[in-house]
Amino acid sequence: MGATGLAIQLAFVVAAALFIFGLKLLGSAATARKGNLLSAVGMLLAIVAALIDQGIVEFQWILVGMVIGGVIGAATARLVQMTSMPEMVALFNGFGGMASLLVGAAALGAGDSNTFILVTIVLSILIGGLTFTGSLVAYGKLSEKIGSGAVTFSGQQVVNSLLVLAILASAVMFCLEPANSMWLYAIIALSLLFGIMAVIPIGGADMPVVISLLNSYSGLAACAAGFAINNNILIVAGSLVGASGIILTQIMCKAMNRSLSNVLFSGFGSVSSAETVVEGEIKPISVEDAFYVLEAATSVAIVPGYGMAVAQAQHVVKELCELLEENGCEVNFGIHPVAGRMPGHMNVLLAEADVPYDQLLEMDEINPRMETVDVAIVIGANDVVNPAAREVESSPIYGMPVINVDKARTVFVLKRSMASGFAGIENPLFYKENTRMLFGDAKESIGGLIREFS
Ligand code: TAP
Repeated sequence: MGATGLAIQLAFVVAAALFIFGLKLLGSAATARKGNLLSAVGMLLAIVAALIDQGIVEFQWILVGMVIGGVIGAATARLVQMTSMPEMVALFNGFGGMASLLVGAAALGAGDSNTFILVTIVLSILIGGLTFTGSLVAYGKLSEKIGSGAVTFSGQQVVNSLLVLAILASAVMFCLEPANSMWLYAIIALSLLFGIMAVIPIGGADMPVVISLLNSYSGLAACAAGFAINNNILIVAGSLVGASGIILTQIMCKAMNRSLSNVLFSGFGSVSSAETVVEGEIKPISVEDAFYVLEAATSVAIVPGYGMAVAQAQHVVKELCELLEENGCEVNFGIHPVAGRMPGHMNVLLAEADVPYDQLLEMDEINPRMETVDVAIVIGANDVVNPAAREVESSPIYGMPVINVDKARTVFVLKRSMASGFAGIENPLFYKENTRMLFGDAKESIGGLIREFS
C-alpha cells in the first residue's frame, strides 16, 4: 500500500470515529448540534477519500459536486418548514435507498462477481428499491398528498407473499445467471413494487414507526452496497444507520405499546372512526375566563403537540410559562414520545424557545403527578392525550400509552376546531366534565392569555 493508500485508509478510520462520536453526542439535546457537525465532517471526509481512492473523478469535479450539493442542501434546510421535517427525512431515506440501488446495479460487472458479491448486489438493490418507493409513499402520506390512512384490500397478504416469492426466485436466478440482465431488471421492478405494497397498508399513528424503519433499511441497503463494492466506510456508515434506525423503531413501538409485526400488518386507520361513541358535551371557554382559572392555579402541566409546531407557538408558550411562574405557579411540560411529526419534535421546538431541559418531563414522569395538577394545558395535541387509548377497547389506539391530562383538575384544550388529529379518530377528552375548549390558533390564544396577565 502506497502513501496515498495509507492516507485514504486513515481518512476512513477517522471518518468512522467521527460518525460514532457524532452519534454519541446526538444522545442529548444539549450536545446534538455538535454531534451533527462532527458526523457531517466525517461524511465529507469519507466521500472525498472514497472518490480519490476509486479514482472515480478528478479532484475539481469533487469540488463542483460539493458546491452544487451544498447549495441544494443549505437552500432546502432554510426553505423547509420545521413542520415538514419528517417529510424531508422520508425523502432523504428514499434517496439513500435509490443511491444504494444504483451502486448495487453498477457494481455488477465492475469486478469479479463471486456468489458473495452477487448476493450483496441483490440485497443492495432489493432493500434500496423497497426503501425508495416505500419512502415516497410515506412522504405522500405524511404530507397528506395521498390519504394518510391504511389502504387494505382482501387478499393483500397473499399478493405480498407472492411478491416475496417472485423476488426470491429472481434473486436465485440472478445469482445463477448474472449475465442475463432480465433477472436484474426483475429484481429492481419487484423491489420497487414491494416498497409500495409494504407501506400502503400502514397509516395513521403508525407512520412514525415506518419512517424510522425505512431509515434503518436505507442503512442496511448502504451496508450491502458497501460489501458489493468492497468499501469499508460505506459498510460502517450503513451499519450505524441500520442499527440506530432499528433501536429507534423499537423505542417507538414501545412508546405506542405495539409490536413491530402488529404495526406492519394490522392496518391502522382502516378501522372506521365512527366506532368510537362519545358522551358529554363540548364546553368552550373564553380567553378571559381561562385567565381567571390560570391566575388561581398553583401547578400547571403544559402538553404540546403537532398544533404547537403549526402555530409556531413555542416562544409565546415560554412567555406564558414565565408569567405563570412569576405568579407563584409550578409549570412542567409533558412530552409524549410521538407528539408532533418526528422524534424529539417538541423538544427541538421548546429548546429553540429556551425552555430549560429539566422542565420537560417524559410521559412516565408526568403521568403519576397528573392528579395533583390544577390545570393541564393541551396545546395543539390530540392523539397523544386521547383517553380512548385507555377507555375504548374498540379504538385503533387502544393500549397506546398517552398523557393522562383528563386526570388533572381542569383541562384546557387549545385547538382551532373539533377536527381529529393525525390518527383520524374521535377524542372523548373534549367531552369530559373537566375539559374546556379554548378554540383558535394556539399562538393567538396564548397571546391573549399573556395580554390578560400583563
Ligand atoms: P395530532 O394528533 O396530529 O393533533 C394535532 C392537533 O393540532 C389537531 O387536532 C389540530 O386541531 C391542532 N392544530 C393544528 N394547527 C393548530 C393551530 N395552528 N393552533 C392550534 N391547534 C392546531 O398531534 P399529536 O397529539 O402531537 O399526535 C401526533 C400524531 O402524529 C400521532 O398520531 C403520531 O403517531 C403521529 N405521528 C408522529 C410522528 C412522530 S415521530 N412524532 C411522526 C408521524 C406521525 P385543529 O385542526 O382543530 O386545530
